[in-house]
Amino acid sequence: MAERIYLDHAATAPVLPAVADRMRELLADSFGNPSSLHAEGRKARQAVDEAREIVSSSLGCEFAEVAFTSGGTEAANLAILGLALAHRGGERDRVLMSAAEHHCVLQTEPLLTAFGYRVEQIPVDREARVDLQQFEDLLSEDVLLVSVMHANNELGSINPINEIAELCAAHGAVLHTDAVQTFLGTDLPWKVADLGADLVSVSAHKIHGPKGVGALYVRPGTKLSPLISGGAQERELRGGTENLVGIAGFGEAVRQLAGGSHSCQREAADTFRAAIETLGAISSVSRNTPTLPGHVHVRFPEIDAETMLIVLDRLGVSAGSGAACSSGSLEPSHVLVACGFTPSQARKGVRFTFGRFSCIQEAEEAAARVAAALRGIEERKS
Ligand SMILES: Cc1ncc(COP(=O)(O)O)c(C=O)c1O
Repeated sequence: MAERIYLDHAATAPVLPAVADRMRELLADSFGNPSSLHAEGRKARQAVDEAREIVSSSLGCEFAEVAFTSGGTEAANLAILGLALAHRGGERDRVLMSAAEHHCVLQTEPLLTAFGYRVEQIPVDREARVDLQQFEDLLSEDVLLVSVMHANNELGSINPINEIAELCAAHGAVLHTDAVQTFLGTDLPWKVADLGADLVSVSAHKIHGPKGVGALYVRPGTKLSPLISGGAQERELRGGTENLVGIAGFGEAVRQLAGGSHSCQREAADTFRAAIETLGAISSVSRNTPTLPGHVHVRFPEIDAETMLIVLDRLGVSAGSGAACSSGSLEPSHVLVACGFTPSQARKGVRFTFGRFSCIQEAEEAAARVAAALRGIEERKS
């Protein structure tokens, strides 16, 4: 049986051995509650503090400006709903979010509406990027919050976040950016000051850390209400005993990646893209658009994503679509629909995402398996 090739790093990335070791060590030897004063508690507090130190320094912010959460979804919810709650009833009652945001942002809308806000979507272009002119037209002094992702998780395209931040600042609006896909990326280093956002959410499992842990950067002076009450943890932003093992695993993942190392990620993705384009795959993002290094998003004109993914899985290639799977069938991707694709086209989007440890050989072998998948699908049709 040929080795499997994992090309779904944007969904989640395998936990690094050093991360698993650190988590095992804490699980076995450190059961204390970080809020306790005794030795066991102090040891647990030290582990949380150490992780916060590592994560804040890689974000380029102060120790106290990072709140740990249960992942990217909660970080975005805390940013958006926490800000909305803290400013409820104020003069600014509009919230703008790009139409291509992850559901963790878009699906805050019902609660925002219940809190009395008007939520509007910022249109995106064919590659899921915010058009600056259209965005500026929507901005005015009644906008409390803007949420625009740094890079799109489906297409991999990168938004001009600095320009968006400048426009927000000019209108006094708070900017949240979902940076889950770009945090510690191989060829896109950034610190929070580079992004210019007031609130930045990140997640551990996209960077070879554990699932169920993430963080929110909060610029000093940005007022948020907690969404989980019942304790003063995370500087009163999130009640509840800390997920000690997960947080320490997150810190270790950041420590492992922060130094940077040579990676063939972009080269592997480019090699693969070029090979499958010769097989008829149509790339969703043009070569000149700034993109994440590992993303290859394509459509095979006659084949639904679901069929392609199932056949590829049988051939030992794990890919994704970025779209939600409900009742056993793929929904058309809301991102592709926002980009102007028809629902039928949107059901054909397949996402291959290479990781920092992927290699060219895997790219070549994966392309050969895509060719085999296409032959198999064609034979079944005839
Ligand atoms: C852009 C983006 N935002 C947020 C999330 C959610 O992160 P988490 O799985 O940690 O809740 C994801 C993960 O799929 C993502 O890709």
